[in-house]
Amino acid sequence: MTRRSRQDTPATVDAFLAGTLFAGGDAELEAALARADAAGLPRIEVSLPQARLLEVLCRTVGARRILEFGTLAGYSTIAMARTLPDDGRLITLEYDPSRAAVARENFERAGLADRIDLRVGAALDTLPLLEAEGAARFDFVFIDADKSNTATYFAWALDRCRPGALLFADNSIRRGLIVEPEPDATSSALRDFQAYLADEPRVSATTIQTVGAKGHDGFTLAVVLDHD
Ligand code: SAH
Ligand code: DHB
Ligand code: MG
Repeated sequence: MTRRSRQDTPATVDAFLAGTLFAGGDAELEAALARADAAGLPRIEVSLPQARLLEVLCRTVGARRILEFGTLAGYSTIAMARTLPDDGRLITLEYDPSRAAVARENFERAGLADRIDLRVGAALDTLPLLEAEGAARFDFVFIDADKSNTATYFAWALDRCRPGALLFADNSIRRGLIVEPEPDATSSALRDFQAYLADEPRVSATTIQTVGAKGHDGFTLAVVLDHD
């Protein structure tokens, strides 16, 4: 038996999990991915283990109202929306109309279109419309759009979350970009996000580094505390 390469180990472990814990497959998510591939969309969706983490967390809080920033083809959206009760709703925001079209098709095929409200446009333009409509308070928020606005999206959503709600931000480490000695705009924004969280008394938050087939990254998870 050849010696394991340290560098390859995270991807090998992901492959092992794919053949054991996830051996039953995930027909809905695989179908969504196949249509994303056919449309030539980039492979930047969450991993299957992370999609399952989103599901676990949505079920843990008994989510009825979910907000997502960054739909792409709706892979993560489907993982969350299928945990909703019949009267539950997920609002998802996507900038790119061609990506939104693929996502809509995926929601139809997954039988989830009636629970998912997809809004096309830059999230900073869409949020005031949601506000004007009086969107109800959220139980779960998944932030996975343009990383430089993660803190802005977090702050907007936090004001509209119930105590006990969870906010989950993807890509908060970005191959260590967060500690880049010569930070670019995204790197600075990722740093500022952590500093912002440290000063936000309404949440208890943590950031966890991750490895796997998708490389070195991480996520931030926060729970909304009781507050006035
Ligand atoms: N959550 C998806 C992946 C999202 S990838 C999944 O895991 O399956 C990030 C998405 O955010 C891209 O599709 C990109 O077009 C979108 N995006 C980028 N900037 C945005 C903005 N300002 N407002 C809304 N969506 C944006
Ligand atoms: C990439 C990964 C992501 O999870 C994402 O939301 C956006 C981009 C990337 O690897 O480029
Ligand atoms: Mg992401």
